[in-house]
Amino acid sequence: MVAVGQTTFKKAPDAIDPAAIPSVTLNNGKKMPVLGMGTFGSDAYTAKEIADAVLGAAEFGQRAFDCASVYGNEKEIGESLKVVLEGGVPREELFITSKVWNNMHGDVIASCKQSLADLQMDYLDLYLVHWPFPNFHPPGCSVESRSADAKPYIHENYMKTWAQMEQLVDMGLVKSIGTSNMTIPKMELLLRDCRIKPVVNEMECHPHFQQPELFDYLVKNHIQPIGYCPIGSPARPERDRTADDTVDIEDPVIVKIAEKYGVHPAIICVKWSLQRGLVVIPFSTKRSKYTSNLKTALMAPLTEEEMKAISRIDRNCRLIKGQVFLWKESNGWEDLWDLDGTIAQ
Ligand SMILES: NC(=O)c1ccc[n+]([C@@H]2O[C@H](COP(=O)([O-])OP(=O)(O)OC[C@H]3O[C@@H](n4cnc5c(N)ncnc54)[C@H](OP(=O)(O)O)[C@@H]3O)[C@@H](O)[C@H]2O)c1
Repeated sequence: MVAVGQTTFKKAPDAIDPAAIPSVTLNNGKKMPVLGMGTFGSDAYTAKEIADAVLGAAEFGQRAFDCASVYGNEKEIGESLKVVLEGGVPREELFITSKVWNNMHGDVIASCKQSLADLQMDYLDLYLVHWPFPNFHPPGCSVESRSADAKPYIHENYMKTWAQMEQLVDMGLVKSIGTSNMTIPKMELLLRDCRIKPVVNEMECHPHFQQPELFDYLVKNHIQPIGYCPIGSPARPERDRTADDTVDIEDPVIVKIAEKYGVHPAIICVKWSLQRGLVVIPFSTKRSKYTSNLKTALMAPLTEEEMKAISRIDRNCRLIKGQVFLWKESNGWEDLWDLDGTIAQ
């Protein structure tokens, strides 16, 4: 039994009405709240801290949680979700996402069943293929390390994984399936060959990394973009930083707009993404932060000029480069992202 600090659900006195949070309708007709809570603590936060934040956020009215087996905290989060459900929140009000990690592409069903058991759920609202590479690397390893077995994207193999994702829908274990960290060339192949289309693609997206082409492509194909690192992941570990990385929340354009509204620059980053049409999943374990993040979905819109000003500060600055997924013969992290429109081999 995994211990969480609190065993009862108490609606917070300042709670918002979860029904007031807008939702998007996915291409299979299911609805998803526009603002979820991230649960990746990396090296900075323990599983218990994150599980406590999940419970605290639910008491404030948060209903959507972006989980993943590789985050190593689904058991603890499951204990919190159990308290939420026992506290009277109907299961249909929650929107729970999880993801199959790279080492389980060959047995997606088992991975999903494990996440269901850990999260104490009968079904997931959304299940994603976390990365389109089955390449293993130990948690927390250096970005320079390369696995001898790592391979470039192999579409035939990805489709075997996707067929198991489709089977999960058939089995009723997940309501919707989607992708993460995909590129346009990979998505083209998936859309050509799939039986069940992905409803979302989860991708890095923040003012300094706007991915306009991929965003437009997804919208055109009725695939909802979910933006991860919406604040530019300011607390990511040292190993995930390079000298060229820029800081969204210090950008003068963001800072000036934040001053006008009297909010933290993080809120402007989140609001810009929401207003652009992304589902957003900011992370914090701190009550003042996760509550203000959720309230961003209820905040008045930024002006058209502010939206335009932010669209002009794109620096094409990818923070999560994915170096650890590279294979021996690869040239560099750019190979993972098909920058010239072809899939690197
Ligand atoms: N699919 C994928 O491959 C993938 C990859 C990366 C992330 N994700 C998902 O996306 C989620 C979010 O990404 P992320 O955690 O890397 O980055 P993020 O949400 O952009 O940044 C989180 C950081 O921003 C700070 N913050 C949050 N809300 C704030 C507020 N209102 N005011 C000031 N600062 C605030 C937090 O500070 P404190 O530390 O002080 O709380 C936290 O360190 C993850 O938790 C995970 O669920 C998915």
